[in-house]
Amino acid sequence: MTQRKILVTSALPYANGSIHLGHLVEYIQTDIWVRFQKMRGNSVHYVCADDTHGTPVMLRAQTEGITPEQLIERVWHEHYNDFSAFHVEFDHYGSTNSAETREYAEDIYRKLRSAGLIEVRSIEQYYDPVKNMFLPDRFIKGECPKCHAKDQYGDNCEVCGAAYAPTELIAPYSAVSGAKPEMRHSDHYFFKLSDKRCQEFLRKWTRSGTLQTEAANKMQEWLGSEGENRLSDWDISRDAPYFGFEIPDAPGKYFYVWLDAPVGYMGSFRKLCNSRNEDQGSKIDFDEYWKPGSTTELYHFIGKDILYFHALFWPAMLEHSDFRTPTGLFAHGFLTVNGEKMSKSRGTFITARSYVEHVKNTEYLRYYYAAKINGTMEDIDLNLEDFVAKVNSDLIGKYINIASRTAGFISKKFGGRLAKELKDATSLISEFSSRRTQIAQCYEERDYGRALREIMRLADIANEYVNEKAPWVLTKQDGQEALLHEACTVSINLFRLLTLYLKPVLPMLAREVETFLNIRPLTWDDAEEALLDSTINPYQHLMTRLDPKLIEAMVAANRESLKPETHSPARHAEHQQHAIAPIAETISIEDFAKIDLRIARIVNAEHVEGAEKLLKLTLDIGEEKPRTVFAGIKSAYDPDTLKGRMTAMVANLAPRKMKFGLSEGMVLAASDERGGPCILSPDEGARPGMRIK
Ligand code: 2FM
Ligand code: ZN
Repeated sequence: MTQRKILVTSALPYANGSIHLGHLVEYIQTDIWVRFQKMRGNSVHYVCADDTHGTPVMLRAQTEGITPEQLIERVWHEHYNDFSAFHVEFDHYGSTNSAETREYAEDIYRKLRSAGLIEVRSIEQYYDPVKNMFLPDRFIKGECPKCHAKDQYGDNCEVCGAAYAPTELIAPYSAVSGAKPEMRHSDHYFFKLSDKRCQEFLRKWTRSGTLQTEAANKMQEWLGSEGENRLSDWDISRDAPYFGFEIPDAPGKYFYVWLDAPVGYMGSFRKLCNSRNEDQGSKIDFDEYWKPGSTTELYHFIGKDILYFHALFWPAMLEHSDFRTPTGLFAHGFLTVNGEKMSKSRGTFITARSYVEHVKNTEYLRYYYAAKINGTMEDIDLNLEDFVAKVNSDLIGKYINIASRTAGFISKKFGGRLAKELKDATSLISEFSSRRTQIAQCYEERDYGRALREIMRLADIANEYVNEKAPWVLTKQDGQEALLHEACTVSINLFRLLTLYLKPVLPMLAREVETFLNIRPLTWDDAEEALLDSTINPYQHLMTRLDPKLIEAMVAANRESLKPETHSPARHAEHQQHAIAPIAETISIEDFAKIDLRIARIVNAEHVEGAEKLLKLTLDIGEEKPRTVFAGIKSAYDPDTLKGRMTAMVANLAPRKMKFGLSEGMVLAASDERGGPCILSPDEGARPGMRIK
């Protein structure tokens, strides 16, 4: 099979809010698809970034008394950590506030201008005379012109649902300063979407198979029939003060955040290319992915609410500025929780952070979402009761059960060795193996629900096999060793195949199974072969049941978090009085150079039986074999949240024999009497093995 070259993006989250479970539907969906494609042997780059510009970010930074740059820097880390905790593995996670995004935004703008697709027009808009700024619709409030509800936003009424222009509001006021807004004129820049070239192009593009059927139908609605001109020009400028990129040759005018947001896909990818091109051997050619006529594939995963931007503005911008257009847009629906819109008062507006704090294991949610995702734009529901039931019955009751009931016999009775050959049951292994094409197709089409139903059907068959063979009976009977060996070897093989099929959804669990089975990372082709005559490690518990109490606590905490935050002045005083420990003796640069500090990826983290303070970490620093390090950080970290994270380690510390095994280095962590340990995280771009100097 020829290797496909694919560039994948998820929508860029705004830098003025936290990642919540609604966002995660998209990132988990994309990550599963990317991991699947990588397992298939395709070359895939997955990029994303924070969407940093606009009025809300500017105003929030002001409220916090910091610069927008400081705000977006802080939020970037929060977002990045949230995604890492859910094992969403970007090849690059950037920011739209980057030199690269600016460069492409300006380039696209200039080309559109040369093509005659930019027009300047004077418009009238509300202005806040106290704050000295034009007000976006959302920052004007007043009385609804239809139902007379007070304090409604400038674009629509939350009470009666009416949509209107901000000028229609009765007694309008600025939501920023409370001042009465004034109507003022200003020149705005428009992208001429109504131009015949744009309309013709979009008509063609819509029908080229790029869109899901539902999305293509929506486009027909927006475009109207042939000859009709329904599209209006798009206002792409905002006046200062605005946090964003200034428009070339237009002082005081800034690109509207939605102009440079999708350009962030290019900017982030460019950063990836730049960092790869500094390495040897893994270069990526930017143009190969973005120039017209390229044979590479480009997919954007998005929510259905931003289809308009991605299916009209974005392709029209690209088409007329000498870039390629997307191969596909994959739009999904919204998340409901217990059948309703996420709600703060019900405690169902759950942040990623809060999930991690309460439930910890993020693969439960990956599994549940995957079971619900079917590649369409339908909404998906997270029913919290069903979530617990499904995870426990499918993952623990069906899948894990196969290994937990059979692996022990391989260790105890056969020295960990799987049978050399099989007499009877090869047919069952081949039946499982033969499902690989159909399951792959489900993943390819983003119908993960169907893939998982098929996988669980196979898990049922595997469990029936175990029940029928009853190894726990065979082991007590004389002369049944061969049968027992065969039954357990077959079961382990079925378990291995199920793991392979589940790997895009459960990457961490799959990694643990690979360690348990002593095998290389599973790829899709491995489904063709059975695992025989090889040694496996003793079985250790792979996953615990999801306790419904954790979910209850999470919901309660999200309800509680609505209470106003209280700051105790005593605490602040204490912080101010705190003095840092004396700085250690001065050393020379040569002394420092003796310490070989490296970036490490935490491949695995687990509890150590009998150890009070230690966690056992498996660290990848780019060497052939990962290192084992015992770190005294148990009090501060749940091992599951560490997996996949990057950190820093001392790589040339003499190995130390500890009670629990050999420790081959040390991770760096900060602490003092007030807290810690806090392990270190490198900035974006750091890769395992990089030297820290
Ligand atoms: O809707 C949103 O959250 C936007 N920040 C998505 C931007 S996607 C892309 F165009 F950048
Ligand atoms: Zn109203």
